Amino acid sequence: MDGLFERGRELDELDVHFARATAGDGRLVVVEGPAGIGKSRLLTEIRRRAEGSMRVLSARGSGLEGEFAFGVVRQLLEAQLTKPERREALLAGAAASAAAVFGEPDSGADGGGATFASLHGLYWLVLNLAEDAPLLLAVDDLHWCDRPSLLFLAYLARRLESQPILLLMGLRDAEPGTDPALLGEITHDPAAISVRPRPLSGAGVAEFIEERLGMAPDGEFLAACHESTGGNPLLLSQLVTALRSEGVRPDAGHVGRVKAIGPQAVSRTVLLRLARLPAEARAVAQAVAVLGDGAGIPTVAKLAGVAEGRLAAATRGLAHADILRPELPLSFVHPLVRDAIYHELSPGERELQHARAAALLRDSGAPAEQVAAQLLHTSPRGERWAAELLREAGRDAMHAGAVDSAVAYLRRALDDTPADTDRGRLLLELGAAEVFTSGRAAAKHLALAYEELAEPASRAAAAGLLGRALLFLGSGEEAASIARRAAAELPDESDDLRMGLEAFEFMTINFRAGDPRHLSRLREYRHLPGGGPGSRMLAAMAAWEAVCTDGNAAECAALALAALAGDHLRAADPALIVFAAIVTLVVTDRPEVVEVWQPVIADTHRRGSLLSAASIHIWHGFSNLRRGDLAAAEESLRTAESEFGLWGHADSSVAICRTFLAETLHERGRSDVSGLLVRLGTIDPGENTTGWWLGTRVVLLTAAGRAGEAVATADELAAHCAAIPDPARLWWRSLKAEALDRLDRRAEAIELTRQELEVTREFGAPWSLGRTLRVLGTLERDEDRLREAVSVLEGSTARLEYAKALAALGATLRRARKPTEAREPLRRALEVASACGAERLAEHVRSELHACGARPRRDALSGVQSLTPGERRVVDLAAAGRTNRDIAQELYVTPGTVEVHLSNAYRKLGIRSRSELERVLAAIP
Ligand SMILES: Nc1ncnc2c1ncn2[C@@H]1O[C@H](COP(=O)(O)OP(=O)(O)O)[C@@H](O)[C@H]1O
Ligand SMILES: [Mg+2]
Repeated sequence: MDGLFERGRELDELDVHFARATAGDGRLVVVEGPAGIGKSRLLTEIRRRAEGSMRVLSARGSGLEGEFAFGVVRQLLEAQLTKPERREALLAGAAASAAAVFGEPDSGADGGGATFASLHGLYWLVLNLAEDAPLLLAVDDLHWCDRPSLLFLAYLARRLESQPILLLMGLRDAEPGTDPALLGEITHDPAAISVRPRPLSGAGVAEFIEERLGMAPDGEFLAACHESTGGNPLLLSQLVTALRSEGVRPDAGHVGRVKAIGPQAVSRTVLLRLARLPAEARAVAQAVAVLGDGAGIPTVAKLAGVAEGRLAAATRGLAHADILRPELPLSFVHPLVRDAIYHELSPGERELQHARAAALLRDSGAPAEQVAAQLLHTSPRGERWAAELLREAGRDAMHAGAVDSAVAYLRRALDDTPADTDRGRLLLELGAAEVFTSGRAAAKHLALAYEELAEPASRAAAAGLLGRALLFLGSGEEAASIARRAAAELPDESDDLRMGLEAFEFMTINFRAGDPRHLSRLREYRHLPGGGPGSRMLAAMAAWEAVCTDGNAAECAALALAALAGDHLRAADPALIVFAAIVTLVVTDRPEVVEVWQPVIADTHRRGSLLSAASIHIWHGFSNLRRGDLAAAEESLRTAESEFGLWGHADSSVAICRTFLAETLHERGRSDVSGLLVRLGTIDPGENTTGWWLGTRVVLLTAAGRAGEAVATADELAAHCAAIPDPARLWWRSLKAEALDRLDRRAEAIELTRQELEVTREFGAPWSLGRTLRVLGTLERDEDRLREAVSVLEGSTARLEYAKALAALGATLRRARKPTEAREPLRRALEVASACGAERLAEHVRSELHACGARPRRDALSGVQSLTPGERRVVDLAAAGRTNRDIAQELYVTPGTVEVHLSNAYRKLGIRSRSELERVLAAIP
C-alpha cells in the first residue's frame, strides 16, 4: 500500500484507547469526517496494528445493501461461525437467540419481530468472542449500515464497560445515512470518542505527490494541488492519477493542467479515465457498481457480458486506473468512485441492470436476500417469482429479528403481487412486521388483510393486531370498533377467539376509548377462566378491573394467577393484556410475582421484540419499586428508557416509564426533586397511565415544598379516579393528606385518610394498607396505628414501605419524648432502607437517630442483612461457584453490573474474595 502521511497524532491518540480496550476497558471510537479525508485508511492502519494482540473483525456498510438484514453484523461475525464446534461454543447460553440471525432454522420460537432477542443474543455472542482474546470490531461506512445492524451496534455500544472490546467505526459526517436518529444514539453517546483525521498540510501534499509521481513538486505546482484539493487525500490521489496518466510533470509549467482538472476531481477524472479504457473494462466497472462491492467473479462476468477468462485483464486495467482495488473481492477504491460510475448510467439502464442482476443471482442459486436487494432497485413488474422470492426474504428477515428489512421486502412483494390474487396472508405478514416499525402502515395493511382473509382464526389474528396498532396510534375508538366488528363476524363456534377480542375491547377503554362505565361488565368474568387464551384474557382484565374498583386483593390475585396459569395468556398476548394480570399481582403484593416474571423475562430475551422488551422492563421496574428493590428498579427502567430510544417511537408507555423512574430516583435520593419534576414531563388527561403520573407528581411536589400545587394535582387525581377505574383509588387520599398536612390542614388530612383506611382495609393488601396506616398514624401521632402498619408490612414483600412504617413509628415515639423506645424501630428502619437502596429515607432516619441521641455510623450497615436484593442474588450465585459471566447471563444483566454488585457486597461483608463468600454466608442461619 502507498505511504500514510501525517497521521501520527491520530494514531498516538488511538493507541491509548487501543491499550485500554485490550486491558478490558471497552471503548467506542468513531472516526469522523468528510468523504475522502482518510477515515477508511486510518481504520485499516489501526486494524493492521491490532493484528497481533486482538482478534480483528471488520465490516462495511454499503448503500446498495441498505436493506440487507443484519448484513453488517453478518460480515463481522459469520466467518467465526463456520466450524461446527466453535459455532456451538459461541452460540451457547444467552447467545443462542443470535442463531436466527445467521440463518439457523426455526428454534421453535415464532420469531415474529424478535429484534430484542436477536440483539441480546448477538451481544452475548460478541462477549463469547471476546473471552479468549481482546476484540476489535471495525465497522466502516457506518452511515450506510443496514438498520438492524445499526440497532445492534447501538445496543452493544452501551454495554462495552469492563469488556476487552474496541468498537471502531468510520462515519462520513453530513451524510444522513440509513437512520440519522439511530446514528445519533451511537455517536452522541457520552462515552463515544471522536477522532477526526485532518486534511494534509502543504508538506503532506508534497510528500504524497513525490511518492506517486516519483518527483518532488515545484512550489507553484504544489500550491495549486494543495489549493484545488484542500489537502483531501482522495481528491489528491485522483488528481495525481489523472496527471500521471497524462504524463504531466509536477512543475510550474503544468499548473494550468492542475487548475483545469479542478476541485471536482473525483467524478470527472474517474469518468475520463474510464472512457479511455477498453469497452470490456467499462462494462466490468459498471457491473461491479450495480452488484455492489464483493460481488462474485462469475456474476460480474455474466452481467458485464465478458468471458470469465478475460475478466482478469479488465480488472487489471481498472486497478491501474485507480478505479478498482488491485485485490479480490472486487471493490472500488472509494465509494465516490463507485457513485461516479453508477450515476453515469441513466436511470433506465440502472434499473435494467439491477433486474438482470436479480435474474442472474436467482439462477445461480444465490440466497433470497441477495436477489431481493437487487429487486428493490427495480420497479415492480408483477412477476410471480419475484413476489415469492421477496416474501421468502421477508420471512427470513423477520425470523432473524430484522424487522426493518422484512418490511422493505414484504412491501415490495405486495407491489409485485397482482391485486386479483389472494393477498390476505401477505398483507397480514406485512402488517404484523409493520406493527414494529410504523403503526400507520401497519393499520392500513392489516385492515386490508382483514377484508381479504376468509378463515376465522386468521381474521381474528388480523383484527387483534390491527386493534393493537390502532391503540398505540392513539385511535382507541377505532381499535374498539374493529374488535367489536370482528367479534360479531366470527362464526358461533369460535368462542374463545371472540373472548380474546372482547378482552381487547375492554382494554381500549383504558386508552380513552368508550365509556369507562362499560368496564363494569367485566364483573361477569370474575370467575376462574376456562382453557383458552381468550377466556384468560378476560379473566386478566376482570382481575384488573376489580383492583381498580371494589375488588379484594386475595380474590383479584387468585383470578390473575388463574389467568396466567399454563402460560397460554402470555403466548397469545405477550405485550398488552398479560400485564393486566401481572400488575394485579404486583399491586396485591403477591410473592408469586417473582416466579411469574422469570419466564416472561427469559422469553423476551429469547424471542421478544424491542417493544415488548421495553414494556416488560417498565412493569418489571415498577414491580421492583413496589418491593423496594430500588437498584433493580432503576436498572429495569433505564433499560426500558434506552429501548424506547432505540425503537424510536414515543407513546404513552414512555410517560409511564418516566413516571416510575422519577419515583425510583426520588426514593434513591440521587436527584434533586425539581430536576425530577422536569424529567416527569407532561401527560394527556385520561390515559391509562395518567393516574400513576399524577400520583408521582403529587409525591414530588410535596417533597419540593410546593404543597399547594400538590393538593391541586391530588384533586386532579381524585377526579381521574372518579371517572376511570384506577388503582390510585387505593392511595390518592393519603397522597393528598400528606400535602394538606404541609399546609397545616391536618383535620382535613385525617378525615381523608380515615376514608382511605376503609378502602384499603377492604382491599387488604399490605403495601396500600400499611401506607394508609402509616400516613394516618403519623397525622394522628398514634403509636398503635403505626405499630399496626409495621406489623401489616413486616412479613410482606413491600420492604421499602415496611422501612417507612418503622421510620414513622420511631419518629413519632421520639416526638412523644420516648427516645430510647424510638431507637429500636429507627435502627431497623435504617437497616431495611439501606438494603432497599433507599438513600432518601436512610438519610432521614439517620437524622432521627441523631435526635434520639444515637450515633449511627455511616457505614454501620454491614453483614448479609445490608445487601440489597440484587447484591444478594449475585452473591448467592457467586457462592454457588458460578462465574461472573454465568451470573450475568442468568440474571439478564451485563457482566459489568455483576462486578459492581459483587464489589459492593464484598465491601459490606468485609471480605476480599470469592473464596471467603461461602464462609460468610454459612455463618448466617
Ligand atoms: N494520511 C494519508 N496519507 C496518504 N494517503 C491517504 C491518507 N489518508 C487517505 N489516503 C488515501 O486517500 C484515499 C481516500 O481515503 P479513504 O480512507 O478511503 O477516505 P474516507 O474513508 O475518509 O472517505 C485512499 O486512496 C487512501 O489510501
Ligand atoms: Mg471510507
